[in-house]
Amino acid sequence: MSGPALRQLHSHKAIHEGGLSGAVMKMEDLVGFLEQGEQEMMNRACDDLLDYWKTRVISHADAEEEGFYKEILAENPELEREIIQLTRDHDLMRLVVQDIEDLRQTDQQITPEIMQKFYGLLVINELHSREEERLLFR
Ligand SMILES: [Fe+2]
Ligand SMILES: [Fe+2]
Repeated sequence: MSGPALRQLHSHKAIHEGGLSGAVMKMEDLVGFLEQGEQEMMNRACDDLLDYWKTRVISHADAEEEGFYKEILAENPELEREIIQLTRDHDLMRLVVQDIEDLRQTDQQITPEIMQKFYGLLVINELHSREEERLLFR
């Protein structure tokens, strides 16, 4: 994600909203296949959702830490605490994504534990985006 898009509240917010709504849609697909007991589709939807979190949401976090957060910090040293907190949110999402990947390796089934972690990601991501918009765009 390019730097200028992250610096503008309007475009940054649009990235957050697009990321979250895509994850919600893919989550609904997964839940639908689970309810229908469609094993093959379920597995595919689960891997697709996991990949989405990595390529769309975690990569956004990586880009922020590599550029945007550093720029903000250089211009506003008083925001160090906020940047640390927001980076921790990113780390939590990375940990949950890694946990889901590990669970996928050990278990062939889409377990309730995996589903809970996917729901957890949605919550962390929503709160993180809201806080990022509030703290860094004053
Ligand atoms: Fe972020
Ligand atoms: Fe962001």
